[in-house]
Amino acid sequence: MFSILRPFIFNLDPETAHDLAIKSLKFNPLPSKMFKVEDEEMLNIELLGKNFPNPIGLAAGFDKSAEVYNSLLKLGFGFVEVGTVTPLKQYGNPKPRIFRLEEDHALINRLGFNNDGMEVIKDRIKSNSKKGILGINIGPNKETKDQKKDFCLGLKNFFEIADYITVNISSPNTEGLRDFHDQQKLVDLIVSLNKIKKDNGTNIPLLLKISPDIDRSHIPEISDAAVKNNISAIILTNTTNRHRDNLKSALKNEKGGLSGDPLNQISTNMIKSFSRELKGKIPIIGVGGVNSGKSAYEKILAGASLLQLYTSFVYRGPSAAKDIKKELIQILKSEGISNIKDAIGKSS
Ligand SMILES: Cc1cc2nc3c(=O)[nH]c(=O)nc-3n(C[C@H](O)[C@H](O)[C@H](O)COP(=O)(O)O)c2cc1C
Repeated sequence: MFSILRPFIFNLDPETAHDLAIKSLKFNPLPSKMFKVEDEEMLNIELLGKNFPNPIGLAAGFDKSAEVYNSLLKLGFGFVEVGTVTPLKQYGNPKPRIFRLEEDHALINRLGFNNDGMEVIKDRIKSNSKKGILGINIGPNKETKDQKKDFCLGLKNFFEIADYITVNISSPNTEGLRDFHDQQKLVDLIVSLNKIKKDNGTNIPLLLKISPDIDRSHIPEISDAAVKNNISAIILTNTTNRHRDNLKSALKNEKGGLSGDPLNQISTNMIKSFSRELKGKIPIIGVGGVNSGKSAYEKILAGASLLQLYTSFVYRGPSAAKDIKKELIQILKSEGISNIKDAIGKSS
């Protein structure tokens, strides 16, 4: 069905197509059993104190304002991360701000955290009880004078209703945000967030989402800060604002974050490097160019316990999670592996 509609959808401007997808998902009548696969229990995995039905999650940025997460869960994703949510509603950058690089199976976006703001989004989630695992990704407003304070407001607002909170320090489209990769600034941020957790008596898992553009020499420092300050998992990676040289598409030099196929190997290499540094002390969620069972399996072998995707959902359509689960199960069977957890980190 998607393959029939795809030429029509790809004729639309990417943001219009996205808005149309959100509208249609609000009325998704398809039963969730259509998106389950045979032997899916081979993909069950316990992490962050939760039982994930499968490791294929929908990455942040698709359902920014938490409008359709239950419908996305019905499409067979093992978990969904909404956001990035900022304290105040914001429009983001001027349009056009999403670009489809079809020849490269990639996207470039410079959305700039467009979302409805944390209070509206909290009410929305409270009135639409989640039917699966829901992460909430938080970040600062563009105009804020204090980015750390905005992260704290996000955590306070959401800790009661999320399964985990992602601290997004890695979007390339918000000025100054990626400075939080600096060890001192990072520790200061996590300490403040941990204090909020303590004051509120909550043990909500805090995840840190990292940029693929950091200097390799920062990996030990970031890993050390995460381990010492009780970060529950690291998400590798956000989009890159580099690596344009080998792209084919005419739109390759648009400003913003690049995602999809060209990010795949970069992100897998980051997973390997962090995995060597972390030595299993903190789990990794792999994201960047996951578009098949093979690319998913490579990230798991590199050290990822869970995965997320966004760009291949645009290119493969609503059956992306289902198809990737099927392909992954086939690979596990051919390798004689009975559960996905036995493959984690086997090549790192
Ligand atoms: C249009 C678009 C918007 C995004 N918005 C966010 C966001 O708000 N917060 C965030 O942490 N990541 C955001 N991302 C990054 C994705 O979550 C993911 O890390 C990245 O796209 C790499 O995965 P992929 O290659 O499967 O797309 C966005 C990505 C795209 C393509």
